[in-house]
Amino acid sequence: MEWIRYHEKEKVFELRTENSTYQMQVREYDTLVHLYYGSPVGDTLITDRIVCADRGFSGNPYEAGRDRTFSLDTLPQEYTAYGNGDYRINGLEAVQADGSDTANLKFESYEIRPGKYSLRGLPAMFGGEEEAQTLEIVLADHASGLKVHLLYGVFPKFDVITRAVRLENTGTEAVTIKKAVSMEMDFEYRELDAVHFYGRHAMEREMERNHLGHGNWSVGSIRGTSSHHHNPFVILCDRDTEETHGNCYGYALAYSGNFVFETEVDQIGQTRVMMGIHPYHFQWTLKQGDTFETPEVIMTYSEEGLGKLSRNYHDAYRQNLIRSKYVDQPRPILVNNWEATYFDFDADKLYHIAEEAKNIGLDMFVLDDGWFGKRDNDWCALGDWKVYEEKIKGGLPALAEKIHGLGLKFGLWVEPEMVSEDSDLYREHPDWAFKIPGRAANRSRYQLNLDITRKEVREHIMNQIFTVLDACKVDYVKWDMNRSVDNVFCAALPGERQGEVYHRYVLAVYEMMESLVQRYPDLLFESCSGGGGRFEAGMLYYSPQIWCSDNTDAIDRLKIQYGTSFGYPVSAMGAHVSVCPNHQSGRITPFETRGIVASSGTFGYELDLMKMSEEEKKTAREQILIYKEMEHLVQTGDYYRLENPYENQKYVLWQFVSKDKKEAVVCGVRLHSEANPRIYLCYPQGLDAEMHYEDTATGKVYTGAALMKAGLPLPLTMGDYQPVKFTFKAVEK
Ligand code: DGJ
Repeated sequence: MEWIRYHEKEKVFELRTENSTYQMQVREYDTLVHLYYGSPVGDTLITDRIVCADRGFSGNPYEAGRDRTFSLDTLPQEYTAYGNGDYRINGLEAVQADGSDTANLKFESYEIRPGKYSLRGLPAMFGGEEEAQTLEIVLADHASGLKVHLLYGVFPKFDVITRAVRLENTGTEAVTIKKAVSMEMDFEYRELDAVHFYGRHAMEREMERNHLGHGNWSVGSIRGTSSHHHNPFVILCDRDTEETHGNCYGYALAYSGNFVFETEVDQIGQTRVMMGIHPYHFQWTLKQGDTFETPEVIMTYSEEGLGKLSRNYHDAYRQNLIRSKYVDQPRPILVNNWEATYFDFDADKLYHIAEEAKNIGLDMFVLDDGWFGKRDNDWCALGDWKVYEEKIKGGLPALAEKIHGLGLKFGLWVEPEMVSEDSDLYREHPDWAFKIPGRAANRSRYQLNLDITRKEVREHIMNQIFTVLDACKVDYVKWDMNRSVDNVFCAALPGERQGEVYHRYVLAVYEMMESLVQRYPDLLFESCSGGGGRFEAGMLYYSPQIWCSDNTDAIDRLKIQYGTSFGYPVSAMGAHVSVCPNHQSGRITPFETRGIVASSGTFGYELDLMKMSEEEKKTAREQILIYKEMEHLVQTGDYYRLENPYENQKYVLWQFVSKDKKEAVVCGVRLHSEANPRIYLCYPQGLDAEMHYEDTATGKVYTGAALMKAGLPLPLTMGDYQPVKFTFKAVEK
């Protein structure tokens, strides 16, 4: 099947997925112009929408001679560089050896290949020739020899197109790159909204929708991580687009460091969009023959609204981004001791929790922070990945063996990128922490960032961790990261190369994670950064699940998990039942409600099981059995957001549907109790209108059409924050 075509005569590149088309054209003076991205248009090439007109103060390339209508300042293009009379935001800033700040990018060649391109040392979607094709277009700056390879990966089944850029210096002089985004796209004259996901620690990925007016708008991170504060995932959509209808475009950067998503609405109402590494403190020098690859942007288009856009991402990530063998397998239901004990534990206490876990029906015990060095608080010991023998009497391997002996899996927490000043590591190698010479370092959670851009640092840390993982036969690792990157300075690099450090840091994280997943292919890996500070496509390449938030309050989680679901599969969201009053919010919610919310993710418990009442233990046992019945829907099903927690103050609902549409589960929470209550209807989605479904609680049978069109009343409940659940199974009638 030809998903990528080059129409020789018209010089048009055409990329097709099942429900989208992307077109670009080589125009006058070898300029690569963007034509169209959206719903399929049959065999028409969209070449007639480019309207060139003489616009004052929008100059013309020299080759245009007397033609005052051809201007890079107004043409929609695929990838642009500063310094060529295009005064909008540009994707490339290249400083040449003579100090000039420009590159004039001209189409040079292209290649279409089967399968999906890969990137060196960076996460990226993968795909064989049955699943994906690659287009590589080369643009060249003839004066310097700098070449820009535009990479496009096409995944027809998911309506996904990926983009990345490889820069290559084929000239003789060095070129210094100050900005190189992964993708740029120009939209025609059209009003757009941006839906983005902002937040803070313990309240990540809150949804906000802004209209893009004239001028510039951007979100991003300069924290060295993708951050809690803005997620590297943004949707652009028509103003009337909603959950079930309308045009929308998703942009997700598979990258775990500084990023920017920028837009500019220009003088004639066109919108330029770009995404990539944030140019703040970024600089990369390309000497003769050097190359540099940007991270990948994963794009999808839906004309059926935001719900379909999300499901495109869910499927694409589960099938062609997440590499773990657990991606579509039942995950062990775990108990994590963090909120149960914090740092205050010993071997007996941990073992008793594990025994109770077994008794309740859980699959895995996870030992969180505090097992290493002399770690009794968060002042110390990061970097000393040796078992704290005085605290864990008999040693961790013996405890792990006992826990394995119960028939449970054993998991362990680590934070490899950090060092405490009060640690043996720091006392021995104070220069291994990021510190700017002559300046005091900024602490955060009392800790410093390790300079993992240095190979000896990475190896030292990983070797220590591998020793423990081997000795304890660890089944699961939670890799945490609890501060933003700061004091960025690498003593091993000269001053003019300090601008490389942020990106080198991210490459180093990836290299360390790669060494972990390669060495332990059977390990279940969960990444974490103070909860969801690195919840993005980059991390999903290494870990099939990410701890969604340090906030375990079920009601706050309604918004956090709702926002997260726009860009990421529910099966990737770590979600745990914790104690009440909740440790982050002080809120009290029913145990069942905490279970409903946590079971819409990678399910677990994070409380002292020894302190649970018999009633709670009974409920937990039931929750676990019920979860096991529906977990295949969480892992592989289609996800529907039925009610928006930002708009509906009464109740929130969401739904899982199996791919064959024979099973569906609606989950939700009624937020506030009402005296003499109104009746609220639940309208499931995604069912087969013709099929008959039994509501397994009542035994009543309905057509899919009846459920979707007429709805079902929510049960009447007493008290705030009550759980809602419907389970539907297809039946023959
Ligand atoms: C932050 C994580 O998100 C928590 O779950 C816990 O692991 C703590 N760090 C431990 O320090």
